[in-house]
Parts: sequence; C-alpha cells; structure tokens
Amino acid sequence: MIKTGIDAMSFYVPHRYIGLESLAERHGIDPEKFSKGIGQEKIALPGHDEDIVTMAAEAAKPLIDKYGADGIDTVLFATETGIDQSKSAGIYVHRLLGLPANCRNVELKQACYSATPAIQLACGYVARKPDRRVLVIASDVARYELDSSGEPTQGAAAVAMLISADPRLVEIDPVSGCFTEDIMDFWRPNYRRTPLVDGKYSALRYLNALIEAWRDYQANGGLDYSEIARFCYHLPFSRMGEKAHRHLAKAAKTQVNMDQALPGMIYNRQIGNSYAASMYLALISTLDNSDMDLGGKAMGLFSYGSGAVAEFFAGRVVPGYRDHLFTERHRALIDEREQVDYEGYLKLWQAVDPGDGSERILPDEARGRYRLASINEHQRHYIDSA
Ligand code: HMG
Repeated sequence: MIKTGIDAMSFYVPHRYIGLESLAERHGIDPEKFSKGIGQEKIALPGHDEDIVTMAAEAAKPLIDKYGADGIDTVLFATETGIDQSKSAGIYVHRLLGLPANCRNVELKQACYSATPAIQLACGYVARKPDRRVLVIASDVARYELDSSGEPTQGAAAVAMLISADPRLVEIDPVSGCFTEDIMDFWRPNYRRTPLVDGKYSALRYLNALIEAWRDYQANGGLDYSEIARFCYHLPFSRMGEKAHRHLAKAAKTQVNMDQALPGMIYNRQIGNSYAASMYLALISTLDNSDMDLGGKAMGLFSYGSGAVAEFFAGRVVPGYRDHLFTERHRALIDEREQVDYEGYLKLWQAVDPGDGSERILPDEARGRYRLASINEHQRHYIDSA
C-alpha cells in the first residue's frame, strides 16, 4: 500500500504573551496553581491585526518557501474560531501564499478535533492521487471569559502541514480508533465570543473518550502500547496531557513513563491552548525536542474535540526526518516574544471587530509579514507587508 502522511510541518505563534504569574496576581491565588496545577506558563496573545488567517499564512509560508506549491490542489482549514459563517478562512490564505488557482478550499469544524479528520481525508486523497499534495492548516484563538477558571488556559497558534504520498516526516498509519458522544462539556453558540464550559466535566469526558478511542484502536488492529515510543495528546493545558498519559498506561496495564509524553508539552506550556492546532503543536514539540533520534519509531496521537469526538491513531517517524524540521525557527518564535502586563492583555482581549460595517484601520503591530490591515463594510483586508 502507498505510504501517506505529513511531509512537512511548521507552526506560528504571535509575538506577545502574558505570563501566568500576572493572572495569578489578578486572581489573588498562588502562581503554582497555574505552573504546577494546570502546568502552564504563558498565554500567547494575537495582536489587533492578527487572527486565524494571518497566523495560518505565517505557519504555512516556510513550507511553501522550502517545498514549493506545485501539486497543492486542496487546502483544508481546521478551526473553531471562524471569522465568517460562509467563506472559508483558507481562501484568504490561498491568496496570501500565491497557491495555484486550480485548488479546492474548505473549512472544517469540530472543536479541537477538526485537523485530524482533515489529515485522514487528505491521506486518503493523496493515496488516490500520489502526484498531488494537500495543505492542512489548524489555526485557533482560545479565549475564555475574564476572571473565569478557563482564563489561564487561553492561547493562540497555527500549525500548517503538507500531506503527501511518501512523506518525509511522519507516515500516518491507516488504523485508527474513534469515539463520538453528544455532550455539552464545552461549546460556543454563534452569538457568543467566548465558549460556555463545564471545566471539570470536560476533563472527565476527555479521559473517558481517550479510553474509548484506544479500545476502538485496539479492536481495529492498532499497535500494542509497548510498540509506541512517544505519545502526543490534545493539550488544553499540559497537566491534562499528564493525566491522560497516566490514564492510558493504567488502561493498558503498563507502568507509566512520563518521558514518553513530556517532550510534546514543551511548546504548549509556553503558548497555551490552541484548540485545533494543539495536538499537532505537541507533535512538532516532540519531534523538535526529543534528544533521541525518533526515525523509525511509532508515535501515538490522541485528538479530542469537545462536544465530543475523539480519535487515537499512530504515525511512524521517517528516518532522516530531522532534515525537514523547522526547529530553529520554532524556538526563535517562542523565545523572541514580548511580555505584556495585565493592562496590555486586557486591551488585546477586549478588542472586538466592528459589527456595523464601519471602517476600522488596525494598528501595524504584527511581527510577521501578513497582517489584517483593516475591516470595512464587513470585509476583512489582509495584506502581505513583505
Ligand atoms: P480550576 O477551577 O482551576 O480547577 O479549573 P482546580 O481548582 O481543580 O485546580 C486545578 C489543579 O490545580 C488541581 O489539581 C489542583 O489541586 C491544583 P488536580 O486536582 O487536577 O490534580 N492546584 C494547585 N497545584 C499546585 N499549587 C497550588 C494549587 N492550587 C490548586 N497552589 C479547569 C481547571 C481545567 C477545569 C479550568 O481551567 C477550565 O475550565 N478550563 C477550560 C476547559 C478545559 O480545558 N477542559 C479540558 C478538557 S476538554 C478539552 O480539552 C477541549 C477543549 O480544548 C475545547 C475544544 O475541544 O475545543 C477545552
């Protein structure tokens, strides 16, 4: 059978963050509740002129620069922070990146899960058409109410992936295990800017969905737990990944080895939840930050989206993968950010799009080359400032 999977992947994170010690001070609580209790350090904050489109274009640009755009005939944009109920955000990205006009474009939504079906669909497609490539982008801004218990788990990032036949990074195994249940653990009606969430219940459902998806994965002939070298989890906050890893080891009747999951949490601790991008950020974090050469090793991947849908599947890292990583760029994106204080954070959090069609020129703040320059007559105007 033809091998398909991730040929290249990179992420983008905005250049500003708030440290969780500032939020702890504001909440009047011990900062260790955030650093240890939920396992997070920083929340990435998009500027006024940044959104899911600009982050997506920034994440995908290095892939196009290095591997070209030939043969990309499909863009799948996974998000739950859609900017339009009708038009796919991927169409703006398609123009900003100069992708071929003979290309299909569609947006997918299922909370934090939607990049996973995007990849499964893309793998099936390139197996049928091995001369084509699919650009899958996951881009989200995780925002909760101010002063809520979800507030420290905010964040923002985009991950872009080229899906192809004979991939150079990670071959995706066709076996997977799925689980769907109709629950209200986290949801966002169209008229709301922030989600409604039953936080503790959501964490319990996540763990239950992990076991259900794992059982289905086993029933479908998946790898044994002992054959998997590293595990990447959807990370609403890194402590959730630790709990998940412990829970899965127990279900598999194995001693837990946290070193198999911790490399995946390094970037997420610094960025926060990035919803659809989160599990793929954990995958990049694992590839970038594992001392051991993972070539030939299997990675267990657990994707969860509230509401809820979960999938457990596996990928095999391709020998020589290190030549196709963007590790230096990723580390620089995280290390070269600016910290904002609580007042600065509030200003960014409170900025809303004009709902009446009036013109809004956005301050030139983004550090990347793509910006949302203005919104006028209900239209968003993106520019490439290179
Ligand atoms: P909370 O009220 O802060 O919870 O909400 P807590 O008071 O239980 O504290 C959390 C942990 O900190 C506890 O540890 C405390 O003991 C510990 P645990 O019992 O979990 O082991 N703690 C301390 N540790 C060290 N030093 C201290 C200290 N004080 C307390 N001084 C909650 C936490 C996650 C519920 C909240 O942040 C929330 O609602 N977040 C949003 C929802 C969420 O992330 N759910 C996760 C599963 S659902 C999911 O992943 C999907 C999602 O990504 C959305 C999508 O699919 O689109 C969210």
